[in-house]
Amino acid sequence: MDLGLQGQVAVVVGGANGIGRGISAAFAAEGAHVAVLDVTENTVETAVQVAEAHGVRTLGTLCDIASFESVERSRDAVLGEFRSYAHVVVVAAIGSGKFGFPFLNLQPSDWDRVLQVNILGTTNVAHVYAPHLMERQCGTVTLISSVAGQIGSQTDPPYSASKAANINFAQCMARDLAPHQVRVNTVCPGMVKTSLNELVWKSWNDLQPEGRKRSYEDWAEEKVRNLVPLRRWQEPADIGAMVVFLASKRAQNVTGQTINVDGGYVIK
Ligand SMILES: NC(=O)c1ccc[n+]([C@@H]2O[C@H](COP(=O)([O-])OP(=O)(O)OC[C@H]3O[C@@H](n4cnc5c(N)ncnc54)[C@H](O)[C@@H]3O)[C@@H](O)[C@H]2O)c1
Repeated sequence: MDLGLQGQVAVVVGGANGIGRGISAAFAAEGAHVAVLDVTENTVETAVQVAEAHGVRTLGTLCDIASFESVERSRDAVLGEFRSYAHVVVVAAIGSGKFGFPFLNLQPSDWDRVLQVNILGTTNVAHVYAPHLMERQCGTVTLISSVAGQIGSQTDPPYSASKAANINFAQCMARDLAPHQVRVNTVCPGMVKTSLNELVWKSWNDLQPEGRKRSYEDWAEEKVRNLVPLRRWQEPADIGAMVVFLASKRAQNVTGQTINVDGGYVIK
């Protein structure tokens, strides 16, 4: 299916690893040029690999979404390289690194960095990147949230709360940007094997007494069997497929929506 994204420019914030890398590759596979923004050392390397694999132009540039100035610098780099962009995806997020069930296991200060990156970082990207889309009178913004933002997930309350905030802010943005023909949606993955997901397992496993500790693979297998009706993990490519669809004209009447790519997790 040709989604008509060829030659367009997509900015994937947090695009160097995990789900973000899958989204960068999905845009490139559609012939879109991709700006990969991330804080990790492999940012440029990922951009180069995506370009080589798909024959598109890419830019890899360091960006810490928690810093407004860093996000501004990234936008200047993107415009310097491509002159314009049509799609912005915010994938970057962190967890607290602690097991927050019950929430009293956490200190109030454990919330600070998670909210700073996941909520205020997303706000920074929106403030810096939306005006260009408004000027163009077209384009899309997609926030990657989580099923954890829709249920009282008993793992990492600051993370879950921040993901709920992403959904709500996307709805605000969708209303504000609709008059400019800019569409805003949220995609919620269920369970994807990434370093973030492994951190959830590790924070749980570290608290277990000897004899109840599990390997990541065992823990993951049981989670999927018990919680996911389709009984399979989601892959970064599954999330990428939904994001490029939402960016395309085929989704031209879709805005302000929260779309779960979760194997049915939320309905269980
Ligand atoms: N893995 C899952 O099961 C799962 C489930 C639901 C939702 N999600 C969501 O998917 C998204 C991607 O998560 P993932 O599992 O691929 O995690 P990941 O840790 O593999 O990737 C996250 C990326 O964000 C980047 N990042 C972190 N802080 C940043 C910052 N301050 N500035 C710029 N980049 C930053 C990281 O360097 C990394 O490349 C997140 O928004 C997460 O909430 C993941």
